[in-house]
Amino acid sequence: MRRPGICAFSNYSSRQRKDYHIVYEALRKELETFEKRTPKSAEAHKKNLKRIPLGVASNYRAYDPYPIFVKEAQGSHFRDLDGNDYIDHNLCFGALMAGHCHPAVMKAVESRLKLGTMFGMPHDMEWQLAEEICQRFPVEMVRFGSSGTEATMHAIRLARAATGRDKVIKFEGAYHGLHDTALVSVKPHAPEFGDVNAPASVPGGLGVPKASIANVPVATFNDLNSVERRFKENPGEIAAVILEPILMNVGMCMPRPGFLQGLRELCDKNGALLIFDEVKTGAKLGWGGASEYFGVQPDIICVAKSIGGGFPLAAFGAHPSVMDLISQHKVFHGGTYNTNPVSMAAGLATFREVLTRENYAHVDKLSKKLTEGYRKTAAKAGLQGYVAQAGANGVLMLYPEEIRNYRDWTTIDVDLWRHYWFGMVNRGVMAQPYWWDEQWTISVQHTEADIDKHLAAFAEVAPALAEAQQERFAAAARSA
Ligand SMILES: Cc1ncc(COP(=O)(O)O)c(C=O)c1O
Repeated sequence: MRRPGICAFSNYSSRQRKDYHIVYEALRKELETFEKRTPKSAEAHKKNLKRIPLGVASNYRAYDPYPIFVKEAQGSHFRDLDGNDYIDHNLCFGALMAGHCHPAVMKAVESRLKLGTMFGMPHDMEWQLAEEICQRFPVEMVRFGSSGTEATMHAIRLARAATGRDKVIKFEGAYHGLHDTALVSVKPHAPEFGDVNAPASVPGGLGVPKASIANVPVATFNDLNSVERRFKENPGEIAAVILEPILMNVGMCMPRPGFLQGLRELCDKNGALLIFDEVKTGAKLGWGGASEYFGVQPDIICVAKSIGGGFPLAAFGAHPSVMDLISQHKVFHGGTYNTNPVSMAAGLATFREVLTRENYAHVDKLSKKLTEGYRKTAAKAGLQGYVAQAGANGVLMLYPEEIRNYRDWTTIDVDLWRHYWFGMVNRGVMAQPYWWDEQWTISVQHTEADIDKHLAAFAEVAPALAEAQQERFAAAARSA
């Protein structure tokens, strides 16, 4: 899956270099600085490339000219192989609301390590963590796994079993992991993605069976008509609608008022289940995740990432009427690493000592400070765009208006975004994971001083970014 974007810096023609001299030069300078600061990462990447496709263990980690290689991390910071220090808002693609090596998580894990790391047998942390999850989220029974991919895969299978139907509606641009049902229309390109009112189902790479694609009708986020249309076209065939309550694979795309409620009603009307993929939002929006935040209850919920405090942990849960399909041996669920005691100890410490109401208040305060600071600096520099924020997440969105869906997101100016990202990284701030479809995370270990430093770096980058943006606008006006 490659991300779309309007320009690729390396492919600039000489004409484009002239028209976009400021854009080009500003980005070139930041890349030059990046390469001077990170020679050991370049070297390490070269070695990786020999044995590991793209030189990385997950495609999301690859970017040009090469990714930063990490040496160590602690709290809200990490250091790269060259010894550069960064404030970390990547936090493993948002999986570390706890921050690195949170003391409570470390203590719990260290004491578990001496007592056995895997049993493949039940133990008494299982009901405890299940209780924690059922207290916060609108579910009554859960099963555990290690990754978000597993959680959404099993949730979808359960929905299919509960309804006796095969088809699942997903939203264009949404990411739910790596299984076949999820790898549809994740980052589709024009013209193959078709009409925005009835998006085509586009495989997210080779190897996804055609039969699987046919079972995934695609709709447009924030467009209830497109969902209703899919229900009408597939009468009695839709098992579920799966979505991230905030579309977080396009920066951040907030649900419009009434959208989530409308989905709830469409699912009820058509006998389908509503699945909230809360792999990202579950821990980071607030204490009770998206159902508490938006006041809409799904039938099945999937959580992962930040619930593990830095260890692989995931869960899916629902009402017993759905989960009983597992109890009755009608739906199969298993996994060697499920509820391994190390991850479970980390999860328990995370729920009890990290994801507390007090810590959410701390993160909220920092999150608002960062957002307000970005808004002020952008306005002062004359940078056009907006800042989206919810809970621990936020992102600089370089668009004239708030995006409503994936198609709006594809109009991003990739070179401007890269200028922003490398500019921040060169000043010791990893403002978010690389790729313009991501967002920043603030951990419970970030401090006011981290946010001040982050804002100071943005204040240095924003004027040059605004100047480059003006050049783009002027060129667009000339060619209009
Ligand atoms: C919303 C969402 N669902 C599912 C996944 C898959 O999770 P994992 O990478 O743990 O398999 C991700 C990962 O980024 C995600 O963001």
